[in-house]
This record gives sequence, C-alpha cells and structure tokens, in this order.
Amino acid sequence: MKRQDDEQTDPKKIIAGYWDLRSRSYSKGVTDFRDEENEIWKRCLAPFITDIRLRKALDVGSGTGFLSYLLDDMGVDVTCLDLSRGMLAQAREALLQKRRNADLFQGDAEALPFRSSCFDIVASRHLLWTLPDPGKALAEWMRVLKPGGRILAIDGNWFDPTVSKRLGRGLSSLLASFSQSRNPVPFHKFYDPVWQELPLYRACGPEKYLAFFEDAGVENVTIDRLSEANGFYKSHTSLSYRLANAGTLFLVTGEKGKQETKS
Ligand SMILES: C[S@@+](CC[C@H](N)C(=O)[O-])C[C@H]1O[C@@H](n2cnc3c(N)ncnc32)[C@H](O)[C@@H]1O
Repeated sequence: MKRQDDEQTDPKKIIAGYWDLRSRSYSKGVTDFRDEENEIWKRCLAPFITDIRLRKALDVGSGTGFLSYLLDDMGVDVTCLDLSRGMLAQAREALLQKRRNADLFQGDAEALPFRSSCFDIVASRHLLWTLPDPGKALAEWMRVLKPGGRILAIDGNWFDPTVSKRLGRGLSSLLASFSQSRNPVPFHKFYDPVWQELPLYRACGPEKYLAFFEDAGVENVTIDRLSEANGFYKSHTSLSYRLANAGTLFLVTGEKGKQETKS
C-alpha cells in the first residue's frame, strides 16, 4: 500500500508518467518546417562545438532525440538519457528509421549512471524546468564532464506568471481545444500536484538559470536569447503555440574548469 502511495506522490514518477503518455504526440514536433528548424538549431549550437576535441556528448532528458540528431549530424557521438521509457521508445524507433546510432539509457538527470569525466559535452533542451533539484543535476553534469568540457542547456520561461503571458496561455488553450494541435494528455492533471517542487518551473528567465550554473561551479557562463530560433517559432508555428510560447527560448552555456578537482 505504501509503495502505491509513493508512486502516486513521487514527483519523478508523476513526471515520467506524463512524458510516457505524451511521447507519441511529442515526437510530431511543433512545426511542419522540420528541416529549417533543424538548420536553425545547428547554427545556434555550432559556435559551442567547433572545438575538435568536443566529440562525445550526453543528451540529457533527450526525449525523442531532438538534440541527438542535430549533434549526430554535426559529427558528435551521442548518448541519450531520459527518465521516460515512452520517450526512449520513440527515440529508438526514429533512430532505426533514420539508420542512426546512439546509446540510449533510461535514468535520472540528477543521478547519472556514468563514470566521472567521460563526456566532452552535456546538452539538454527543455529539461531543467521540470527537475526537482536543478542544482543536483548540474553537479552531476559537471561530474561526468571531462575538464574543459561544456554544458549547453536550452530552455524557456514557459510558465511566466505575468498577466499578459497568463492571458496568452489561456487564449492558447482555448484555441487549442478547437484544433488538432491540442496536447492529448492533460498536462495540468500531472503537473499541478508537483510544480511547486520544481524551482525552475515558474518565473524563470535565464538569470535564474545563471545562478544555478554559478553555484554548481560552472565557468565562463553565457546566455544567448536565441533570436533566430525565437523568430522562427513565431512565424512557423500555430497561433495557439505562439500565444503560449512566443519568445521564451534561451541557451545557457558554460564550462568545466580545465583543472580536474579532487572530489
Ligand atoms: C519537454 S521534453 C524535452 C525532450 C527533448 N530534450 C526535446 O528537446 O525535444 C522533457 C524531457 O525531460 C525528460 N525528463 C523529465 N525529468 C527527467 C529526469 N529527472 N531525468 C531525465 N529526464 C527527465 C522527460 O521524460 C522528457 O523526455
């Protein structure tokens, strides 16, 4: 009985449950212009992976593998890790179809099943907002990075509580309820009981991410407001998507110092 109660209240179990159900619809993406979308993201990432030594990446919270394909195209070896078996099943199916290789692991971004100092890059997209302990996750990402390795974290201020943004999200869900773009899984049923336990869920511009990065000892932290990617989604997605998400994306990057510290 106790085990069943834990399953119903453990935020990570609830979050994994949501993404399991969401995996099939999520894999369809938010735009019909996938090639253009991919090229834009590659241009965003390229300045951070020009260094020839950065060749082995972990895509953490990989979902259906969006970032993994980009990094693979850019000549980087990718390992995917995600909490949700449903998301990983979608990633596996897409990898097979596209005849690509990547190692897939089911696991937790806050407790990685990898030895220390084995990746050149840890990349994530749209993950940190949904973690109960982003500080613990960043400490783990720093642990598995080699000295001089990089963190690339893309995210968005998805649940900005300002009135105009709340209005936009309200209108968006009203519109979506009349269209096929509606998320078929009830997001709020899963996230309402847990969102208060997620420090980067709400009111989270890049400055708040910056503080977590600096606390984790990440060096040379930069913020990029991703104007090209934000512009693309403004002009190539449905009105309901734009009303909820316009202009929210940013990229936070940083490095592990070149000197290995004793832990
Ligand atoms: C919004 S999706 C993003 C997926 C993918 N990165 C992308 O950009 O398309 C968030 C992903 O984070 C995963 N996730 C949530 N909590 C996680 C955790 N603690 N550890 C690993 N993955 C997690 C979810 O299962 C889901 O696949």
